[in-house]
Amino acid sequence: MPALLAALIAPSLVSTASPFAEPVLLPKPARVEWRGGTFAYLPDARVQLPADAARLRETAFPNFVRSGKGTGPGVTLTRDARFTDPEAYRIEIAKDGVTIRAGGDAGFYYASVTFRQLLPVSVDRGTTVPLPLGVIEDQPRFRYRGMHLDVARHYMPKAFILRFLDLMAAHKFNHFHWHLTDDQGWRLQIRRYPKLTQVGAWRKETMRGHYRNQQWDGTRHGGFYSQGDVREIVRYAAARHVTVVPEIEMPGHAQAAIAAYPELGNLNTSLPVATSWGVIENVFNAEPSTIQFLQHVLDEVTELFPSPYIHVGGDECPKKQWKESAKAQARIQALGLKDEDELQSWFIRQMGEHLRTRGRRLIGWDEIREGGLAPGAIVMSWRGMTGGIEAAKQGHDVIMSPTDFTYFDYYQSPDTVREPLAIGGYLPIEKVYAFDPVPPELSAAEATRVLGGQGQVWTEYIPDGDRVEYMAFPRACALAEVLWSPSADRSWDEFSRRLPFHLDRLAARGVKFRRLDAGRVR
Ligand code: ACM
Repeated sequence: MPALLAALIAPSLVSTASPFAEPVLLPKPARVEWRGGTFAYLPDARVQLPADAARLRETAFPNFVRSGKGTGPGVTLTRDARFTDPEAYRIEIAKDGVTIRAGGDAGFYYASVTFRQLLPVSVDRGTTVPLPLGVIEDQPRFRYRGMHLDVARHYMPKAFILRFLDLMAAHKFNHFHWHLTDDQGWRLQIRRYPKLTQVGAWRKETMRGHYRNQQWDGTRHGGFYSQGDVREIVRYAAARHVTVVPEIEMPGHAQAAIAAYPELGNLNTSLPVATSWGVIENVFNAEPSTIQFLQHVLDEVTELFPSPYIHVGGDECPKKQWKESAKAQARIQALGLKDEDELQSWFIRQMGEHLRTRGRRLIGWDEIREGGLAPGAIVMSWRGMTGGIEAAKQGHDVIMSPTDFTYFDYYQSPDTVREPLAIGGYLPIEKVYAFDPVPPELSAAEATRVLGGQGQVWTEYIPDGDRVEYMAFPRACALAEVLWSPSADRSWDEFSRRLPFHLDRLAARGVKFRRLDAGRVR
């Protein structure tokens, strides 16, 4: 904002806690113009909704407008067909009230998130708030703004999932990538195959401390989400304009499923649910019965999750057992394939085609490119951006989730002694903020293939929700701005001046984020 405009704003607006002559908005809107002067807003003011948008009263304005029965000037929401981006909105604060325009509910929702940031952290319904007169015009840079959470390595209770969704929505994230299955646990109830959760959701014990110490805690760990839980979570997310993208891992990271149904594996022996981390050799076999089993699983998944995208993993599938298995080699021959990479590609293609008949698109980690990419598949590029760049150049949609910029299980400080044990790596928030999901290698046309980006929270070393919050925040605040705000006027210095005031909001909600001064020598 130009200094002149800042100077025009009434001094009464300047919160005692903020050095800014303007509200602290995060992620930063595309365009903000403050006009000077204020409107005395009473948080109990009437909110006038379009007739067909009554639902917004519960979802978009729940924190500060319950009754909305106040009198006098308030907030008026108006549908406006000129908005082509369903997430775009415009807020005008004038002397006689606030007008919010959007094309539909998503835009109104994001307007409400921004509007909430115009108010103090704690709102007293009976006390007026001087709102700056002006206009905010906003829309996201990317349409896929994701946060991932691994609930296989450590089960997270439903209440925490709902809280995580709230925190995502407060940062305008719109896709929750829910990593539901892995070697160490299968967390989704499947009616047709009850042992997936009866057996696969529980492990005898868990690795304790660092992998290299090879110690275990001797404590049974597990849990799963019933289909009723899932429906509740999906509904809760949808009300906050978050799409839940489930991930069912295949053909690797499959040991918990094989523990439940040994016939899905390659060894003809029973296996326990894994108790160690790492890349494990016990992968699904590629027999027709296993393909059908997994397609049946996906049928229940598509019933539960309305997401247009279904994630099938595809990463880190060691080929050792397929190389040593006479059956796998016979499959390769029978299908006329060259090698095990092509068998994996064929495997994923069976899922892609199955999902397509149900009107859904497959997402896979970038290994799904090896041996040939399934038509229409979306590549989630985690081993750097190269896989994503090449896929985009070949005309595939991609989501950028590179370890170097978006793995929130990495350390936040080089001082790993003071930090809680983490998987390794070092990803400071400054680096997250420097992430650009559109690398310079892509032409403008190719760049349209980048749907967006995503932050990853793998939980081998993250035992509970408090630690998830510590690892995800405030790095997710930086990622939110990367994915929402225009890249042109992005400045770390400016962001890092806004961030502490935004963190006050998170503190008021009890979020266990990593303090900016953590680890500093005092
Ligand atoms: C991954 O981190 N294995 C996708």
